Amino acid sequence: MTAHTVVTRSAPDAPTAPVSPVPEGLFSARTRQLGTENAFKIGPYIRAIEDAGHKVIKCNLGEPDFALPKHIADEVKRCIDLDMTHYVDPQGILPLREAIAAHVSRTRGLSITADRVVVFPGAKPPIGFSEEAYCNPGDEVIYPSPGFPIYESFTAYVGAVPVPLHLREDTGFSFSGRDLEPLITGRTRLIILNFPSNPTGGVATREQLESIASVILRKAPATARVYADEVYEDILFDGNRHVSIASLPGMEARTIIASGVSKSYAWTGGRVGWAVFPTAEEAAVFKNLNINYFSCIPAYNQMGAKVALESPESRVAIDSMVAAFQERRDVVVAGLNAIPGITCNKPGGAFYLFPNIGGVCESIGAVAAHAKLAPAYRERSSPATLFQMFLLWQYHVATLDRRSFGRIGCDGQHYLRLSIATGLDDLKRGVELIRSAASDRDGFRAFVNEGAHLW
Ligand SMILES: Cc1ncc(COP(=O)(O)O)c(C=O)c1O
Repeated sequence: MTAHTVVTRSAPDAPTAPVSPVPEGLFSARTRQLGTENAFKIGPYIRAIEDAGHKVIKCNLGEPDFALPKHIADEVKRCIDLDMTHYVDPQGILPLREAIAAHVSRTRGLSITADRVVVFPGAKPPIGFSEEAYCNPGDEVIYPSPGFPIYESFTAYVGAVPVPLHLREDTGFSFSGRDLEPLITGRTRLIILNFPSNPTGGVATREQLESIASVILRKAPATARVYADEVYEDILFDGNRHVSIASLPGMEARTIIASGVSKSYAWTGGRVGWAVFPTAEEAAVFKNLNINYFSCIPAYNQMGAKVALESPESRVAIDSMVAAFQERRDVVVAGLNAIPGITCNKPGGAFYLFPNIGGVCESIGAVAAHAKLAPAYRERSSPATLFQMFLLWQYHVATLDRRSFGRIGCDGQHYLRLSIATGLDDLKRGVELIRSAASDRDGFRAFVNEGAHLW
């Protein structure tokens, strides 16, 4: 069977025959627009490979590989024992909102009050809620691409127009006001910023933020909000500290500051995130969205989040985690750059690397193999996807492809995202496996011809 005739796929999560067929038109048009986060999608593939007896090196993970610090865990347990297991304020319990207001005020040089804070189950929900709350169909959302996939996914879901701001490797995956300005129109309602960035680790300099702010203040309509996704605010390298666009003159009144406990405290399962809104009126709208969707977030986890923000022990835990990420970054970036056909920037923050694998995609035959796929399959894949899948199924290294971080206009961009939230020995082994895979033309051809796992 040749690559272009390959149509079958036996992924472990492939749907089994339905008991009764789903009638056409069952789902709303809106639901069909919703994208996804592939980080969750490849979990079953990894499990299938592990079930077959192989060790998978997991460079796909979007969560720190550290335990929840003990002082936070102790507080959660204490609060469960106190029976804090009932409905609470849908906006977030006041002690936590006060702790968030104090933390954001101190770290951004602002003066925030608790009535502008809303607590969510993670830093993810305020993204979609903001698109729901601020955008009518036809309004425009500007977001970074590559970027966290939910930005693009939810834009289409609410009927807004996605306007990707394409980030470039040669500018460290950051951007300035000059890049943003042509994208702003009278219909712009949200401008999403994410520094440090997932998936690139890019961090804007203060000068870049100043030029972004000056363009927004000059050109964006008064009804446009900046959505500053600052969930990686604590994970910066080389001694740098996070700078929020909200700290710049005139920007607090335009900016939603979002963050949470998932990354800073290695607590992705805690499901506590928050956003600080420009006004209490806006916070009230989001509180009402919470009421409509999930009522409230468990009080014991909110109390744990309060301790996380207030205890001096948290800084110690964060510093040691960041030092580990920095060491891994240096080792893996050097290892990747030593592989012919791969170049990799040194990220300034977060825990991801975003190597350019364009040379490998050419030399191994991934660009040619992708071009030969039948159109329906070509659309769902990319040369980087083919290499990602080859790496996963044949070499047992899990990564994510460029397409997982915003699809619009990503053709011809050959990148992978590697998470360094896994131990150094595994990472070193992973780099060696990537090196072997990158020169395995015969193995790649056989993998594509077999056609079982092409996306
Ligand atoms: C940029 C960005 N924003 C938001 C989130 C969501 O975080 P949470 O797990 O707290 O919902 C993530 C998670 O990976 C992220 O990378």
